[in-house]
Amino acid sequence: MPSLRLGNVAPDFEAETTQGPIKLHEWIGNSWAVLFSHPADFTPVCTTELGEVARKKPEFDKRGVKVIGLSANALDSHDKWIKDIDDFGSKTSGATHVDFPIIADPDRTVATLYDMLDAVDPTNVDSKGIPFTVRTVFVIDPKKIIRLMISYPAQTGRDFNEILRVIDSLQAGDKYRITTPVNWKKGDDVIVHPGVSNDEAKTLFPGMKTYLPYLRMTEDPSAKA
Ligand code: BEZ
Repeated sequence: MPSLRLGNVAPDFEAETTQGPIKLHEWIGNSWAVLFSHPADFTPVCTTELGEVARKKPEFDKRGVKVIGLSANALDSHDKWIKDIDDFGSKTSGATHVDFPIIADPDRTVATLYDMLDAVDPTNVDSKGIPFTVRTVFVIDPKKIIRLMISYPAQTGRDFNEILRVIDSLQAGDKYRITTPVNWKKGDDVIVHPGVSNDEAKTLFPGMKTYLPYLRMTEDPSAKA
C-alpha cells in the first residue's frame, strides 16, 4: 500500500487495547482523534510521554479529541507498564492515571498499516531484529481524514503542547475562513484565508489589517467561541 498522506482516509482496523477491543473508525465516532505510537513498553522516553498525555487528557477532552496510544508489545505487558507510568507520574507531576486505550501491536499489524516502522535506524529493533515503531502522531478528524502526521526519532520525546496547538489551528480553520501564522497560539491574531475576497473579508472580519495584498490579519475568532 502506498504511504499515507495528509487528506487520506485513516485506514480502519480492529485491535486489542488496554480498554478492550476496538474498531478504529467506530471508536472515533464524531470526535477528533490522536493516534500516537511508541517504540516499546518499559522504555524511559515513552514512559514520560504516556504520563504527559495522561496529564493533558482534560485538554484533549476540551477540544473533543480522543487519544489512543500504540506500542509494539502485547496487552499483558501494557497493563504492567501502565502501573509504572502512573507511579512515575505520581512522583513527578502529581497524580497521573492513564485512562485512554493503548493498542497492543506485538506483530506490528497496525504499525505496518500506518507506516510507523523505522526501516533505517539499525538500533531501533527488538530482540528478534524486527524494527520498532518510531514516535508517529496522526491527528484524524471526525470524517476520519488524516489532518496531521509527524515522526520523531526514538531518542526524542514529543511536545504534546504542539499537537494541541495544531489541533486548535485545524479546528479554527474548519470553522472560520482563516489560517494561522508562525508560532501561533489560540488567541493570537490569525490570517484571513487567501480564498476570501477583500469585499467578503471586510464584512467577515471588520477589524482586519492588510499588511500585504496577500497577508491580511484579524483577531482570532475562535478565542471568543
Ligand atoms: C525510550 O523510550 O527511551 C526509547 C525507546 C526506544 C529506543 C530509544 C529510546
